[in-house]
Amino acid sequence: MKTLEVDVGHSRYQIAIGPGLLGNRAVLDTAIPGRSVLVVTDATVAPLYLERLRSGLGGRRVAECVLPDGERHKTLQTLGRVFDALVGARLNRDATVLALGGGVVGDVAGFAAASYQRGVALVQLPTTLLAQVDSSVGGKTGVNHPGGKNLIGAFYQPIAVVADTDTLATLPDRELRAGIAEVIKYGCVWDPELFDWMEGNLEAVLARNADALTHIIARSCEIKAAVVAKDEREGGIRAILNFGHTFGHAIEAATGYEAHLHGEAVAIGMLIAADFSHRLGLIDAAAPDRLQRLLRRAGLPTRPPRFGAAKALELMQMDKKVLAGAVRLVVLEGPGRAGVIAHYDKSVLDATLAEYFG
Ligand SMILES: NC(=O)c1ccc[n+]([C@@H]2O[C@H](COP(=O)([O-])OP(=O)(O)OC[C@H]3O[C@@H](n4cnc5c(N)ncnc54)[C@H](O)[C@@H]3O)[C@@H](O)[C@H]2O)c1
Repeated sequence: MKTLEVDVGHSRYQIAIGPGLLGNRAVLDTAIPGRSVLVVTDATVAPLYLERLRSGLGGRRVAECVLPDGERHKTLQTLGRVFDALVGARLNRDATVLALGGGVVGDVAGFAAASYQRGVALVQLPTTLLAQVDSSVGGKTGVNHPGGKNLIGAFYQPIAVVADTDTLATLPDRELRAGIAEVIKYGCVWDPELFDWMEGNLEAVLARNADALTHIIARSCEIKAAVVAKDEREGGIRAILNFGHTFGHAIEAATGYEAHLHGEAVAIGMLIAADFSHRLGLIDAAAPDRLQRLLRRAGLPTRPPRFGAAKALELMQMDKKVLAGAVRLVVLEGPGRAGVIAHYDKSVLDATLAEYFG
């Protein structure tokens, strides 16, 4: 088991990464305070891992809330089901919410924990690669609104993250690839060595080699922890972790959150953002080409549906990163270097959008 620490000043917590953690009583006893828990999971994960988790929870009072599976259920209505379960089980402030699942479960359960009785403890038990490398760490929680992704939510740090790498064995290939997109993102914006490593070891990751997975999860969490420690609320540097996300969120919203997985939309968005960076003269043409090759080898899409540049811009303007009307975009400035820009030649953005969205 590998242990990392996240320190955001007002809150410090550990991330445990390794095999066999969900049924491990000692690990869970360290992570979970108190005797009452609500396990929030989804209909796909429950039959796979709920029993294993129960076996590790010992004599606690365990209530369960099984949500419908999928991004389209990341809604206020689904959030209401978690509150119903909390109230129904008469849980109070000493309860802990356990989010067992992917990023959707983590975000919904996290927001429920943030707001139930003004906040109860939250432990993230991520079961997708995306959740293990990204969404379970850093404290962003929330749900979608028909008008945009993650528009309703809160910053709320978990008190622990336990990432059992054994759970990745049952993850569909497409979901694994979506998680790989976020790992490649860290390579682009922070760690050129990680990018090189992914180029050299992608086959091992795709084959779910245990050491390769542990390596990318630990390195990704280290990077995320370092960035979040500097800027929990995304007033500055944390925004670079949104590389590809503003374009990606537009793609997700335009397609009703159904055509593409989040990681797939991010993959396409990263390529568009890299091309935009090149068009602005910030990086040379080799960088987007290299990114495109790696994304394709990972089986990730690199082209969006052509729903029109005007629609894309409209949806990007709904994104939370918009400040005073300007669409702020994360751009690449070199290998492992990224920045956020709000002032740029608008015609370059228009040309980029026209190229990709028609
Ligand atoms: N909070 C953050 O900082 C943050 C960061 C990135 C992404 N996100 C959010 O995360 C969500 C995407 O997360 P995701 O990709 O994990 O999607 P997800 O939660 O929808 O999970 C993907 C699918 O895999 C299934 N699944 C989960 N674990 C499994 C396992 N071990 N074996 C088999 N199937 C399994 C789920 O039931 C689901 O069908 C998006 O809503 C995105 O906005 C949040």
